[in-house]
Amino acid sequence: MDLSKVLTKYKKIHILSDDIYEHITYDKTKFFTIAQISSLKNRTLTMNGVSKSYAMTGWRIGYAGGPKEIIKAIRKVQSQSTSNPSSVSQAAAVEALSGTQKFIKIRSKEFKKRRDFVVGSLNKIKGINCLTPNGAFYVFPSCKKLLGKKTKLKTDSEFVEKLLQKANVAVVQGSAFGLPGHFRISYATSMQKLKIAMGRIKYFCENFG
Ligand SMILES: Cc1ncc(COP(=O)(O)O)c(C=O)c1O
Repeated sequence: MDLSKVLTKYKKIHILSDDIYEHITYDKTKFFTIAQISSLKNRTLTMNGVSKSYAMTGWRIGYAGGPKEIIKAIRKVQSQSTSNPSSVSQAAAVEALSGTQKFIKIRSKEFKKRRDFVVGSLNKIKGINCLTPNGAFYVFPSCKKLLGKKTKLKTDSEFVEKLLQKANVAVVQGSAFGLPGHFRISYATSMQKLKIAMGRIKYFCENFG
């Protein structure tokens, strides 16, 4: 809402809304998209896909809705490139979007368990602080307290590199997302693997941080 107030003021800005995590929300968080604001609709391109909500990453189907001239331009580029989606993928995506949606709630519940476990485990580690996200399947903890002149690790990039080398856990450095001093973990994996990973991260932070 706050962002939409700013965008309403600046009329020359075009908006791209990536709604790919639309169905992966927690704790009664209500999904909202910016094109619902009528004054912004005409300059908003909304995109989505089946990769996350339907776990169909490999099928390579995304779609968009927005101003006619932008959609026309997208079609022009697509029709002349080799990135056309296969008919099999299109049929599978139609089935995903129009078939039963029951599993979405069940899966969100499962993701919530993993989120709570991961956030809880991270916050028990000395030097790590992690906020609880309301959607998607990532957490973005701060490792700032483990970095600095007096510590073995200087930057978030060094933190993730050493974590991979010493503990065999792959995460992404926060600086790749414009926020140094943090790292990103995806919890789109089994609880069993997450338990192992959290144990290893704890050991790493206690011994190398
Ligand atoms: C924010 C966001 N948008 C879109 C995508 C689209 O993924 P794909 O190219 O698999 O459809 C991803 C996947 O990581 C994502 O995180």
